[in-house]
Amino acid sequence: MSAKEVNELIRQAAEKAMRETDSEPEPGLTEEINWPIKVELHRGLAGAISNTTQIGYVNGAKGWLIYRGFNCFDLAEKSSYEETCHLLLHGRLPSSSELSIFNEQLKKYRRVPQPVLDVLRMIPTESSHPMSALATAVSMLGNLDANSEDISVENETEISLKLISQMATLAGAIGRIRQGKEPLTPNPELSHAANFFYMLSGTVPDEMNERIMDVSLILHADHGMNASTFTTMVVNSSLSDMYSSVVGGISSLKGPLHGGANQQVVLNLREIGSVENVDSWYQKKRAAKEKVMGFGHRVYKAYDPRARIFGPIAKLMAEKSAENKTIYEIAAKLEEVVVSELGQERKIFPNVDFYSGIIYKAMGIDTDMFTPIFAVSRIAGWTARALEYLADNRLFRPRAVYTGPIKIDYKPIEDR
Ligand code: CMC
Repeated sequence: MSAKEVNELIRQAAEKAMRETDSEPEPGLTEEINWPIKVELHRGLAGAISNTTQIGYVNGAKGWLIYRGFNCFDLAEKSSYEETCHLLLHGRLPSSSELSIFNEQLKKYRRVPQPVLDVLRMIPTESSHPMSALATAVSMLGNLDANSEDISVENETEISLKLISQMATLAGAIGRIRQGKEPLTPNPELSHAANFFYMLSGTVPDEMNERIMDVSLILHADHGMNASTFTTMVVNSSLSDMYSSVVGGISSLKGPLHGGANQQVVLNLREIGSVENVDSWYQKKRAAKEKVMGFGHRVYKAYDPRARIFGPIAKLMAEKSAENKTIYEIAAKLEEVVVSELGQERKIFPNVDFYSGIIYKAMGIDTDMFTPIFAVSRIAGWTARALEYLADNRLFRPRAVYTGPIKIDYKPIEDR
């Protein structure tokens, strides 16, 4: 299996997406309320518009994901994570000399200060989730940076670059420490994706694993105004520092409704155990009115383009071992069962998290490290969008429709 084969799968997924993209309009999302003026309530801020951006666009009806004008299929097939970061942060694909400079900057920052590793070693692995450890580590980086309070766009851009580089080192170190091993020193000879794989697993990846990790980092790099990006921007909009803003983003991404879903998917597939059990497992979930992790999306009401790419790659990886094959077959069956009931009618299809975990598992990565991989990539979108907003900042400050009483007389405590 080669990197070329992976690229060919992505091209085929792009063609399939083009064939299936229909012209369905975006769904309506509002509810009118009299409070005391007439307002439209959007639970979970659905459909609320927070700002303008040139960074990325998700068309939920058509299943498009676009970074600064480039569709995700092209970027996944032809680009690299480094190029994609340059695109998101600086607004254009780099020339070869710009890319060399950008790579050198990333390499320069890869090593993290020793006190951060010392703190990570103090975190009890039994009780802590790696995303919580990641948040602690980024907070510690901020505490160690004497320039962290300089919130000029110039300094925040430099910190963003540092964080893009170091998030991979931190996630690698957390993964190793959780296995009782020593963190590894970054290897300057390797690409960002290969170096991350190496720091996490202790093995330099072959060409195919490097390509797949790179594709995964590209596809997770940005995704509209998702919860963790919005959290990062909300924190940054108070003119807090970039480290604190990113700690917010990591904390938001951790949840199972957001980045934590990929971990849950693999746990569910293991729980199902065999293709024969899929139907009954799904019926039990439906009867209990529980959601099936890895399906549905706030914005996509069509097939998630990232899942279009990850599905065939997961199938390719499944050939590696009998266990991977079983997990993939259970997933494929679950997709069939869920989509046959909820697909056309409810527009619920697999999302990015459905097949990504299966891929990471086939790469030998521990389940609890799946969400940190998401963070290693999404740091690009978090920082790019926070920086774009900072240039013309206005504090985020929505309002809530108060539904409680407003005229209660205060009673002294002895009369209550
Ligand atoms: N399984 C079954 N039913 C679902 C699912 C699902 N995965 N997702 C949504 N629904 C149903 C839900 O029960 C509700 O039905 P009803 O109208 O009868 O009450 C309806 O669809 C709308 O659900 P919602 O939760 O209001 O929709 P939302 O737009 O707030 O949720 C979501 C989007 C991603 C939180 C949700 O689809 C979900 O919880 N999915 C499972 C978790 C998951 O896979 N998360 C990863 C998201 S993609 C990666 C990322 O962006 O982080």
